[in-house]
Amino acid sequence: MTAPKILIVFYSRNGSTEALAKAIAEGAENAGGEVRLRRAREIVSAEVMAKAPGWTEKATEMNERYPMPTEEDAEWADAIIFGTPTRFGSVTSELKAYIDGLGGLWFAGKLNGKVGSVFGSTSSTHGGNESTLLSLYNPMAHLGLIIVPLGYADKALFEAGTPYGATHVSIHDTVSPNAKELEVARFQGRRVASVAQRLTTGAEAFFN
Ligand SMILES: Cc1cc2nc3c(=O)[nH]c(=O)nc-3n(C[C@H](O)[C@H](O)[C@H](O)COP(=O)(O)O)c2cc1C
Repeated sequence: MTAPKILIVFYSRNGSTEALAKAIAEGAENAGGEVRLRRAREIVSAEVMAKAPGWTEKATEMNERYPMPTEEDAEWADAIIFGTPTRFGSVTSELKAYIDGLGGLWFAGKLNGKVGSVFGSTSSTHGGNESTLLSLYNPMAHLGLIIVPLGYADKALFEAGTPYGATHVSIHDTVSPNAKELEVARFQGRRVASVAQRLTTGAEAFFN
């Protein structure tokens, strides 16, 4: 059986979304997936970044750990899992810029039938975790991705995360994802890998 190819593409400034991404990767690998972890790059100027203490340093560190996502990554993948911190209740411009750059692949029908899933982090409990994840359901639908939510398909969902995807509340970036939130994230990785595995068998005949 061929390993399902999973692209996890996230943006993170302070590490919460990064921690969820790593747990999702672990879950996907444990389910037999081959994973590429990619961090979307900043789109603002160095001057703007310098105004927020630590932004430049943290971005430099994370960019050393994770390559920049490319079009080829999306074409390679059987499943794409998008991760983003919340920005005013919605997706970050950094992740959205990557998604908008997939227009060429979309036009050529090359993303149609791949699996899509989302995860994210907010500062406060009702600060927009769910609205952010749901805002990504729109581009996933347009790209023709088969959206995989979590539902309550694992007992961990009764204590953390959301039915739409793994989440974390960072309380002004003072708290890292806890054991239960990471358990939900690992479940998301396993679930996406297993759905991708099933869909890739005979996918061409099915979706074309
Ligand atoms: C411009 C801006 C807008 C934000 N908007 C929200 C928001 O609407 N709701 C919220 O709870 N947190 C908001 N945050 C906080 C981040 O989403 C939160 O700190 C998140 O956990 C950071 O994830 P990271 O550690 O992966 O960067 C905002 C942060 C910035 C810089």
